[in-house]
Amino acid sequence: MSHNLPDELPAALAMLDSRRSVPARQLTGPAPDEPTLLRLLRSAVRVPDHGKRTPWRFLAIRGEARHALGERLAARGIERDPHAGEAAVEKDRLRFSHAPLVVTVIARLGPDEKIPEQERLLSAGCVCFALLQAAQALGFGAQWLTGWPAYDTEVAHWLGLREHEHIVGFLHIGTPKLEAPERERPDPRELLTEWTP
Ligand SMILES: Cc1cc2nc3c(=O)[nH]c(=O)nc-3n(C[C@H](O)[C@H](O)[C@H](O)COP(=O)(O)O)c2cc1C
Repeated sequence: MSHNLPDELPAALAMLDSRRSVPARQLTGPAPDEPTLLRLLRSAVRVPDHGKRTPWRFLAIRGEARHALGERLAARGIERDPHAGEAAVEKDRLRFSHAPLVVTVIARLGPDEKIPEQERLLSAGCVCFALLQAAQALGFGAQWLTGWPAYDTEVAHWLGLREHEHIVGFLHIGTPKLEAPERERPDPRELLTEWTP
């Protein structure tokens, strides 16, 4: 069968194929410094964006602020579930303490006469993925996490979210302590069908 795949795959495709998350607890310093973070974001904002709405923004959580947020999360976790065990409370306390940098990706939604909310939310999701890829391209490790803090109104208040804003992801970024294990990936042949009229 003839095909138009080049014999030698371009390096860019190899990079896409090597994309994988590094679990946040396997991340340590150094984090991307400020110019490096801005450079990563420059790649991340190159996402499809119907109507050029820029329906996202970023909030960095780093240094001592990570631990302060963890303390609040531990307390909030007990408020949400007074029967929470010690392990759960400790997990909440340390949620933001593993990776040296957490970039919160915030979707800016709300009424729009033309662009459906779903499309703006998808664009924000693309930003998260693009940021993961950019981080890996520069040798950092990253993981996209949510968990209950992404959906909790009190946490949203602490982080300064405005009306119609939603946390799409906490992007934990740092230097991998070890090589992340690969996981089995879906087989596209099982996912592709053909529409026939
Ligand atoms: C929107 C979103 C939220 C996620 N939240 C979590 C999470 O809270 N905890 C978790 O263990 N993985 C979460 N994941 C999965 C990880 O980001 C990641 O995909 C997983 O560790 C597998 O690694 P991989 O990206 O190399 O497949 C989330 C993924 C997405 C897309």
